[in-house]
Parts: sequence; C-alpha cells; structure tokens
Amino acid sequence: MTGMSGLEGVRELFPITQELVYLDNAHQAPLSSLVRRELDRFYDDAEWRAGPKEKWAIRVEEVRVALAAFLGTTPDTIAFTKNTSEGVNIAATTLPWRPGDNVVLMAGEHANLAYGWMHQRRNGLEVRVVPAASEGADGETFRPVVDAQTRAVAVSHVAYDTGQRNDIASIGRLCADRGIPLVVDAMQSVGVFPVEAEGVDWLAAGCHKGLLTPHGLGFVHRAPRFAELVPTYVAAASIEGSPHDPEVSFDTEIALSLTARRLEIGNLNYAAIHALGASLDLIGQVGLATITERVLALGDYLDGELAPLGVEPIGPTRRDRRSHIRVLDLPGTGWQDYLADRAIRVTEVRDRVRVSFGLFTAEEDIDALVRAIGDRLRHGALGN
Ligand SMILES: Cc1ncc(COP(=O)(O)O)c(C=O)c1O
Repeated sequence: MTGMSGLEGVRELFPITQELVYLDNAHQAPLSSLVRRELDRFYDDAEWRAGPKEKWAIRVEEVRVALAAFLGTTPDTIAFTKNTSEGVNIAATTLPWRPGDNVVLMAGEHANLAYGWMHQRRNGLEVRVVPAASEGADGETFRPVVDAQTRAVAVSHVAYDTGQRNDIASIGRLCADRGIPLVVDAMQSVGVFPVEAEGVDWLAAGCHKGLLTPHGLGFVHRAPRFAELVPTYVAAASIEGSPHDPEVSFDTEIALSLTARRLEIGNLNYAAIHALGASLDLIGQVGLATITERVLALGDYLDGELAPLGVEPIGPTRRDRRSHIRVLDLPGTGWQDYLADRAIRVTEVRDRVRVSFGLFTAEEDIDALVRAIGDRLRHGALGN
C-alpha cells in the first residue's frame, strides 16, 4: 500500500468488509491486513529468533517517536500503558492533590474514566459531577463547580454512549486559566479526530479502536513537568538512564526518569507496539483530516437515508460536536441480535443502537443497515 494517499484502496485492507457490515468501530477496530502482516513478522521473530528483545526495544522507541509526531508532541511526554484505565488511574494517583480537594467529571462518563477517580474517595478526594451536556460539553459545563480546591477536570473527548464530541479546547482554556490539569480520555477519538489541544495536561487512551491495534496497549501523554509526579509503581524502566540490567544500590535514592518513562514499568506489549507502528503508517498515509471528514460525511449520509423511515439519530445537532458514532433510538428491542443475524455488527448501548464508522466504512454498509432497519420497521416483530 506504499504511495497511497487518501482513502483509495483502504477498504480492501480490512478483510472483515468481505464478510460483515462492520459498524462497530466504537467497540473495537478489526485488524487491517497491514497490521496482521506486521504481527506475523513479529511472531516469526519471536518463534524463530526469540526477538531479540534489544531489537524490539529499538522498535518501541521508533513507535514512541511516531506516536508523538502523530499527537503533535515529543516522545519524552509519552508512556506506554495497557489501556485507558491504566492511564486514568496513573493520573488519579500521581497528580498532586490532598484530602478535601476535588475532581470534576460529567454525568454519563465511561466507567473506565470514572472509577479510577471514585476509588480515590477513600483517600479523601471529592468527586464532583456536572450534568451531562447533550450538545457537547465545553468550559461552561464545568465552570459552575470548579473552585479553588479543584485539582483536575476529567472528560472524554468523544462520549462512547452518545457520540458527542466535547469541546476540549474550551474546557482546556477554563482549566489553563485556573492552573487545573485537564485529563482527557481520548479512547474514542484518537485516530479519528485530532486530539492535541490547548490546555490538555493528560491524555489517556487505548489503541484498539481508532489506532487499529489489538487490545492490551494504551498510552498516556502528559505535558511536561514530570518531576512533580510520584508514581505508585516503579521498576527499572522508570529510572533515569537505566541500563538494561542495573545493579541495585540499596544505599542511594532511586532517581526517577525526568520524562514520562517514570510512569512505565517492566516489559511492554511489544507485539501491539509493532502493530501500532503499522497502523500509524496507515493513518499517516490516509491523513487524519481525511478520516475525520469521512466519518462525519458518513454520518450525514446515514441521517439522509434514515429520514424517509422517520428515524432521526439522537445526539448533538451541531456537526462539529458530532463524531464517528451515531445513536439510534429505535422502537422495540433486540436490534443488536436482529442486525447480527443479517451480518451487520453494531452495539446496543443503554437500549439504543450505536452505529460507528471507521476509515474503511462505505456507503454500502449504511445502505445495508438502513434496508434492514426499514424491513423490520415495516414488518413489525419489534420484540416486547
Ligand atoms: C470513553 C472510553 N474510555 C475507555 C474505554 C475503554 O477503557 P480501556 O482502554 O481501559 O479498556 C472505552 C471503551 O472501551 C471508552 O469508550
């Protein structure tokens, strides 16, 4: 696929499109054949050459550089994690706060953004919750409850349940004005929408959706000032200039890395990091802006095709607050199973049908979905 630009040829890189109408990218991305090939190469090395691990370690740093460039930041601000949850928990446990301080979240947030903070209630952190802003949250959503004791605002960039795209720049300005860290869960948005934004201190995400890797790899990006972070866990990887096999001196203080590396411990998910390298190449060749515009245009197309059925997706009315996720409030029950029987994959979230696009989605997928919805609406049998 070398020399490719734009979306031409991309659909063919996702074999799933031959067998399924896959409209569930907010759940997980299917593997592309490019990522599969990279994993095959990795496992061949593992099987026939046992790495060597030194070679994999070099690849880790190359992919860190590529991820940093993709995010518009520098490699020393990025730590690899297992998933979003780990990144959120690292933020909740390392950002400086004292008992009586508070963090502000929005109602309806994903559990993996919320629980890490809620768990800190036992240590005296107050968790404040603002009402859900269905048109998309901005600085005004949080302003009423942010006060001198607020030590973080935590928000999803794109909400997994409504698909709303929150205005991170506006929330970031509110936080920056008050010197409050903004922690962004970019699980749904990274790889689909630009995530770099003024005022974002923390970005936590996994890579198995928009970044097109298998599960088990995530990252945190933190704007510099690592020295103030005291990680809960440390190991050789967290130490400044740590050699591969350091001799431990029990008499001296350990010197933590001055970069985001102080947040990493032990061996990493080398396989998934190799996969991420391949998917960053693919996303880079297609162009993030192209992907962003494509998924929004697919949403417009879905809206238009559903209109004759009298179905209007719920969610923000403003296009710049929408995402690759469209949510349908359809009558009756059992839509996920009904569609699965027709080889159409979606997820039901809170009794609504969540349809989500990827860079390989085509209008023909949406046509198949709309046809199936129309058939069921016309012929009844909508469950109880
Ligand atoms: C907003 C959001 N955060 C987090 C997650 C997942 O968390 P993790 O990467 O820890 O599995 C999801 C979906 O799976 C999500 O939609």
